[in-house]
Amino acid sequence: MNIVTIVGSLRKNSYNRRLAKTMEERYKDKFNMQIADIRSLPHYDQDEENNPPQAVKDFKDAVSNADGVIIITPEYNWSVPGVLKNALDWASRVDKVFIGKPVMPLGVTLGMLGTIRAQAHLREILASSGIQAKILPPGAGNEVLINFANQKFEEPTGQLVDEETLKFLDSKVDGFIDFVKQSKQ
Ligand SMILES: Cc1cc2nc3c(=O)[nH]c(=O)nc-3n(C[C@H](O)[C@H](O)[C@H](O)COP(=O)(O)O)c2cc1C
Repeated sequence: MNIVTIVGSLRKNSYNRRLAKTMEERYKDKFNMQIADIRSLPHYDQDEENNPPQAVKDFKDAVSNADGVIIITPEYNWSVPGVLKNALDWASRVDKVFIGKPVMPLGVTLGMLGTIRAQAHLREILASSGIQAKILPPGAGNEVLINFANQKFEEPTGQLVDEETLKFLDSKVDGFIDFVKQSKQ
């Protein structure tokens, strides 16, 4: 199974990126994970959408070829970071690579409830006509937020080490794998 992960933070020591790296290593027997390069994407420009820069083509190809997409994002000003919205805007045009694509949203926060608004907005964006992703349904424990991140990730490796959180994540990832498999049937 091929999974593309999009991280909404460009920060080097981003907790959301650290979660992506932890998942890449921990679930390597369950799926191949590629972390998408959204830093290289230029600002979305409708004049360019039919013949976009190579970075956009690469990003869209990666999503198109993936069996599923995991989006791990912080909350910026009660929504998703602009870099993530920009990536989704590129993906929503011409060959609309997200249509029917299984997506699992995730978020990591230093606080208690951060990312809740971002994840709610993300679900709205993913449901829009240009995207139409197959989002892991809300409820049923599918809204995953890892809080108090500074207590759960170890220095200097940056890995998520909190056992309870890892077990919780294992069950959520297994649920997403089933969701991706069902989507193919
Ligand atoms: C521009 C900006 C806006 C932010 N807005 C929010 C917010 O609305 N709600 C929130 O809970 N945290 C907010 N934060 C805090 C981030 O969620 C926090 O810094 C988080 O750790 C960033 O994720 P990262 O570690 O993956 O970079 C904001 C941070 C920045 C830089």
